[in-house]
Amino acid sequence: MTNQWRLDTLDQTLVLLSLNNRLPCLIYWGRRLPDNENLNSLSTAVAKDWGDNLLDKVPELSVLPEQSANFPGQLGCKMRGLDGMILSSNFVFLKDEAKDNSLSLVFLDKAIEQTYTLTIISFEESNMYSLSAKIDSKKPIFMDWFSAPVILAPQNSNEMIDYGGQWGGEFRSQITPWVTGTHLRESRSGTTSHANFPGLLIPTIESSENSGSCYGFHYGWSGGHRMIAEQLPDGRRQVQFGNTENSDLISGNSFETAKLYISHSSNGISGVGKSFRSHVANSIIKAPKDNVRPVHYNCWEAIYFDHNIDQLKEIASLASEIGAERFVLDDGWFKGRDSANSSLGDWDVDKNKYPSGLQPLISHIHSLKMSFGLWFEPEMVSPNSNLYRQHPEWIMGHKDQTLGRDQLVLNIAIKDVEDYLFKKISALLTEYPIEYIKWDHNRVLPYPDASQTKSLYVLLKRIRLAYPKVEIESCSSGGGRIDYGILENTQRVWLSDSNDAIERLRIQHEAILWLPTSITGSHVGPKVCHTSGRELPLAFRAWVAAQRHMGFEMDPRALSPSDKALLKAVTNWWKENRQWMKDANILRLPCVDKSITAEIQINSSENHFVVFAGQNALSEFSSPVPLVLSGLDSMAMYNVSLYNKNHINSLGKSDGGLLQKTLKLSGQFLMNHGLQLPKAFPASMMVIEGDKAA
Ligand code: GLA
Repeated sequence: MTNQWRLDTLDQTLVLLSLNNRLPCLIYWGRRLPDNENLNSLSTAVAKDWGDNLLDKVPELSVLPEQSANFPGQLGCKMRGLDGMILSSNFVFLKDEAKDNSLSLVFLDKAIEQTYTLTIISFEESNMYSLSAKIDSKKPIFMDWFSAPVILAPQNSNEMIDYGGQWGGEFRSQITPWVTGTHLRESRSGTTSHANFPGLLIPTIESSENSGSCYGFHYGWSGGHRMIAEQLPDGRRQVQFGNTENSDLISGNSFETAKLYISHSSNGISGVGKSFRSHVANSIIKAPKDNVRPVHYNCWEAIYFDHNIDQLKEIASLASEIGAERFVLDDGWFKGRDSANSSLGDWDVDKNKYPSGLQPLISHIHSLKMSFGLWFEPEMVSPNSNLYRQHPEWIMGHKDQTLGRDQLVLNIAIKDVEDYLFKKISALLTEYPIEYIKWDHNRVLPYPDASQTKSLYVLLKRIRLAYPKVEIESCSSGGGRIDYGILENTQRVWLSDSNDAIERLRIQHEAILWLPTSITGSHVGPKVCHTSGRELPLAFRAWVAAQRHMGFEMDPRALSPSDKALLKAVTNWWKENRQWMKDANILRLPCVDKSITAEIQINSSENHFVVFAGQNALSEFSSPVPLVLSGLDSMAMYNVSLYNKNHINSLGKSDGGLLQKTLKLSGQFLMNHGLQLPKAFPASMMVIEGDKAA
């Protein structure tokens, strides 16, 4: 029997075809097809011709490529019986359940007594699909690899874009040409990792940043993960995403992939970004919709482990004067934690530093009308801690393993460990009015282990259920655990430990495709950056933070009166603009001058915009290249002005242009000729506002 299934979003269509009851193939994914498209004709139209003598038909590239189908590339699943023998499936159609926005297909292999279930959900508004797969086996098996439903990738594309990176330098995009063979990306550190953000973009030949077809993928899993992008000798391409560690150690009867999110856009790479951001904001993050994002103050880079309550009160008062609305007490508040070498696991307030507990500090913070947040690193334990001395058996891995930041990982899949952590965190959330948790995770796991990730989700859910008003930030030495799995239970990410505004500008520019601004933490760091040693102007640092969810992390006691005035002014600007910026359409603005990193944020009524144009280095040109804008109404006129003239240092000699006046220009001109920027020193941010003229 032949079966076809079609699932639409606002702009996309996805069609699956199953011939002779076999596993289905994704025969179409792209721009929405007409409602009357004939799926039978489509099924005939995609049949492949071939010219070699190797097999008498082209093997199907199904959602789970199987050996039994003679598939010549990477298989969708690799499993073994408990005797170690390879199990080769041959699934046949059993049943389907199709609703308006979801599809569930079940296939059965009688011989090996297994079912394969594929679930696809379409999200109309955010223009997104999520796909996941499950194998249930009557007998316990080992699962060495299990891909989420395999996606047939477009053949009219020359390259793919994914991400490398490192601590303090996340989201380093890299371009790989499609060639015959596999492109493998894998995080084996047991976390999402700084170096392997699980995202993939496939722009087609004709596409660019803001136009043409582009396909986007994200795997929503916070543990080890693997991506395989393969071009077969016949030219077809497949993309697989799955858990690295599905269960290479433990046998089981049921294996499920995380959700693979996919979205196609006809508006280039930025269009894919728009869908991913909107999906995160509207369907993944659990926070009130009208949630006003408070300006953060985080004390980490100001005091590190040197906690003194009077000094902290002074810091809080100064932070509040500049505009902070939430104070986050970072690492160092709990018993014995005077350095990074001890006490993780002993989650009791240090009575030497806080003789009357945290309340006196919190009361002071509340008197300043700020909310209070607290740092935890629950999944870790220091060898030098009471917890480790009592429970050395609670760790993951060998006791003589290489430490990371002098710490070990707790095996939170042990129920007693989960209960212990819940109890300790609960006790603090009950005793004190804590509205925010910065949930850190600072070392890699000794080995990838899916049960650790699953148990983390359970613990986070338990805390969210018991304390629904407490927001959680996902931090992992900065951006080591950023993915849509963790975002189901957290509301902000600490994008990077780098507060170096030049590096941050780059990281933000890349991450904007995947993360809404309102959940992307960005802080104004100390004068001399602690991760790069660079000294950058305060105005630049402040405006880079104002692009995202703004905060401060420097010691405000070190600020001069003019620094404070400047920071306060930028913060006030951010407060005035944060509500519309939360829902803004954001388009990156490519520029042939690589010393400019720019984006435009356009409000939802499309009558106001702000361009952030960051001068990240010295330009190779003596006169700035016009910056071509995007997303405007070509026929409308706009009043365009440089908001922060006083913050631009320059050798510029012109007495015209943006530095001097407001310009009235059409969208057409701005999107074709572009905007002539002033000649600025490196580490300058030009903030250009535009209003549609009546
Ligand atoms: C990690 C985080 C920092 C800070 C420290 C505290 O490095 O990324 O922001 O919280 O831990 O130890």
